[in-house]
Amino acid sequence: MLSSQSDQSSQRAAFQQCIAPDCGQTYGLDEVLPLCPACGELLDVTYDWDRVPVPASLREFEARWSSRRNPVDFSGVWRFRELLPFAREDQIVTIGEGQTILQLSDSCATWAGLKPGGLRLQYEGLNPSGSFKDNGMTAAATHARMTGATTAACASTGNTSASLAIYASTTQLFRVVVFVGSGKIAFGKLSQALDYGALTLQLDGDFDDALIRVREVCQAEGIYLCNSLNPFRLEGQKAIIYRILESLNWEPPDWIAVPGGNLGNSSAFGKALIELRHLGLIDRVPRVAVINASGASTLDDLYNGRDLRWNGGRPDKALIDGWYSEQDAEKKRAKTMASAIEIGRPVNLVKCLRTLEATDGLVCSVTDQQILDAKAQIGAAGFGCEPASAASLAGVKLLREQGQIAPSDRVVCVLTGHQLKDPDATVTYHSSDPAGEVTSQRFLDHEVTSAPAANRPIPVANDSAAIISRIRELLHA
Ligand code: F0G
Repeated sequence: MLSSQSDQSSQRAAFQQCIAPDCGQTYGLDEVLPLCPACGELLDVTYDWDRVPVPASLREFEARWSSRRNPVDFSGVWRFRELLPFAREDQIVTIGEGQTILQLSDSCATWAGLKPGGLRLQYEGLNPSGSFKDNGMTAAATHARMTGATTAACASTGNTSASLAIYASTTQLFRVVVFVGSGKIAFGKLSQALDYGALTLQLDGDFDDALIRVREVCQAEGIYLCNSLNPFRLEGQKAIIYRILESLNWEPPDWIAVPGGNLGNSSAFGKALIELRHLGLIDRVPRVAVINASGASTLDDLYNGRDLRWNGGRPDKALIDGWYSEQDAEKKRAKTMASAIEIGRPVNLVKCLRTLEATDGLVCSVTDQQILDAKAQIGAAGFGCEPASAASLAGVKLLREQGQIAPSDRVVCVLTGHQLKDPDATVTYHSSDPAGEVTSQRFLDHEVTSAPAANRPIPVANDSAAIISRIRELLHA
């Protein structure tokens, strides 16, 4: 049975470790390290599972449903704490994240070319700050507290900053500085950072620039960095996988599709699945499909275009460096309407390669037009999502058309952010002209020219009789 408090031995059974097998250096949990000091590669949080009390079956976690008054049992991240055992219960920082649902959507299934019953939407927009980031931020905030941090920072396309800001404002544990690119962030997200009182720096540059600067500033000032380089954040994001499995009665789907930006989520998903298989808690892993926006397709270009692979932890770094040099020489920057994933230099690229190998995964890119059309289907089917999230469904449709996904496959699309994050994108799509042509400059700048699923607002006179007659006409049309 699950114990209510991790014992001290589980504390020592967790450490940080470089992901490069040729280095593999380990570090204590008390160290704050953006990358491996020995070789510069990414770090994992690693566990000696022989020394950690892990349940014999995933079903044991269901016992926590009956003790939801305990905040760590209520949390959709920490009720799985035996699978991310790096903190004592009294150290955990939680604001009730992870109360999400996995919703069946037959209309989206049909649209994507799947059989009814085959497609589910994992609504991460239901988190306290409206995106999946809260899964990771609860874990990063916990580690920040463990290390005595008083100030935390991140670069963001908007959701990470909203999430970090909400954890700081609700807990008052630390001050927050967020770096966002000027004009690069949807208003819903900017409004959150401002409203929650974060010191908000609008940088003259894009996300990739902001991430470079925040790393330098954190290093110089001893500020705790909360971007997904931080391996503790990814520990929390593993819980998305646990909740998907739980909703499916612990039966893995065939596919999990996720938008790819900085590639933190896809990296966390792979780690969760590798660990669950290692622990014998699942016997089959779903295939992970990572979907890029075609204007921010570093992973797709390197994975499909240049055959970059994990290669046992020894990916061809020269291939990556060469590709970035070419991008720089051509002055190419990431550009997509799905601003959340407008990222040209994904920091978790190598970890994502590990996911792709471990899950026999796939990568593809979808255009902004495909993303917005998919978004309209998702909105009509339920809670809705922001543009970047809809890349998952757009990607599934594309992979179905290419024959990679079969019509009878069981697919989960992770919807990473709430519809209200970027209302401008939604209203603009649905306000296209009656012929379905888009005239807004914001859309045209991203080659979005039509809105086939638009649900246009109907102007009516301020007159009940006229309104009734119009409603009758429209409802019975
Ligand atoms: N979807 C949404 C809504 C996001 O906000 C992000 C990333 C992603 C997908 C991509 O996830 O980076 O794990 O591959 N947003 C970051 C931010 C970069 O700053 O909010 P990833």
